[in-house]
Amino acid sequence: MAPPGRPRPGVPDEGVTVDVGRIHSVEEARRLAARTLPRPVFDYVDGGADDEVTMRANVSAFREVTFRPRAGGAVGEPRTATTLLGVPLALPVVLAPAGLVRLMHPDGAAGVARAGAAAGTLSVLSTVAGSSPEEVAAACGGPLWFQLYSPGGRPQTAELVERAQRAGYAGLVVTVDTAALGNRERDVRHGLAQPLHLTVRTGVGLGAALARRPRYVATMALAQRRSRHAAPLAPGPAGGDPDAGRVVMSGSPFSWDDVRDVRGRWTGPLVVKGVLTPDDARLAVEAGADAVVVSNHGGRQLDGAPATLRALPPIVDAVGATATVLLDGGVRRGSDVVKALAAGAGAVLIGRAFLYGLAAAGRPGVERVVEVLRTELVRTMTLLGCASVDDLDRSWIDLPRQ
Ligand code: FNR
Repeated sequence: MAPPGRPRPGVPDEGVTVDVGRIHSVEEARRLAARTLPRPVFDYVDGGADDEVTMRANVSAFREVTFRPRAGGAVGEPRTATTLLGVPLALPVVLAPAGLVRLMHPDGAAGVARAGAAAGTLSVLSTVAGSSPEEVAAACGGPLWFQLYSPGGRPQTAELVERAQRAGYAGLVVTVDTAALGNRERDVRHGLAQPLHLTVRTGVGLGAALARRPRYVATMALAQRRSRHAAPLAPGPAGGDPDAGRVVMSGSPFSWDDVRDVRGRWTGPLVVKGVLTPDDARLAVEAGADAVVVSNHGGRQLDGAPATLRALPPIVDAVGATATVLLDGGVRRGSDVVKALAAGAGAVLIGRAFLYGLAAAGRPGVERVVEVLRTELVRTMTLLGCASVDDLDRSWIDLPRQ
């Protein structure tokens, strides 16, 4: 197997849907994604901000945590099921919100939502996913959360909250780390403008890379013709209609007062995503959050922000008694899920891991990645001697010194 690292630009075209049986790990899905997507689209998924220090730190933080296995303990298959803010999950792994999902595969956000439901977990639809909240809710057939940006300020936010409520979303996630878009230099290098404009139809900014992926282009063109949206990936007016990708976002500033305003409108569980310090976690809970996500946006926003696994324990100590603490960033193995839960997370969100699967094989690729993580999770728990994910606590790991 080739070593991990940036795939070479000249890798062969694999088409848009590969056999999911070829995905044995998240890294395998990543390699297949690199062979499927035009390079600028792959880099949009794979890349981070500035020097990508935080992005890499998320991954390496998991490697610095070691297990304390217990021999002669649990027998039989460990339990992976848990409950998250009233939603029963087959495993504590949620599909994180992601923008422009239809660029990765025509199955898009609806396919991701259906994959999440089929895998027994929930997914979070991004405001800028490229599909309307109603369309995805209708397609999903399982629990869903909606992730809120405010590209158009409070009036648009209020309208989005109302639509999510009416469409039956089970939770609302307010992302607070995107006051401006991070400097994603791979995107800049590919000539993709900030705010990000991508149009498969015109091929703006994708240029020669599209010529190297004729199967991607053909599949996307066909899907676009079949779609009821004239131009699902075309940009619209800044802060415009969030349906069908017609959102151009240069930033989404949220004050704690804005979060309180959202709390007043939304009747279900409220999650604040993007906190990295105990102080911000306390402010989020004071503003009405039922849960926080310790997240640096997968290292796509503030480079130099701490690795999330390192930021997690003091946040659990600060608010864990009154709120659920979730984590995302760098989860690539079932053993990473175990480490995050042992460090105090109630569940993890995965971003790139499922996006690689989506790019490689559409909806079945997402399901496959979740299945791979579940298999790894079960094996790790068995080897650890732990009977249930609900039993994981810090006694199962050694955290590096802060
Ligand atoms: C994201 N993320 C994100 N977060 C969010 O709140 N709204 C969004 O629209 C997006 N869009 C988005 C697009 C892409 C391509 C990626 C990779 C990520 C961040 C995402 O929800 C999550 O925080 C990170 O992806 C977690 O890190 P890992 O799992 O990718 O390492």
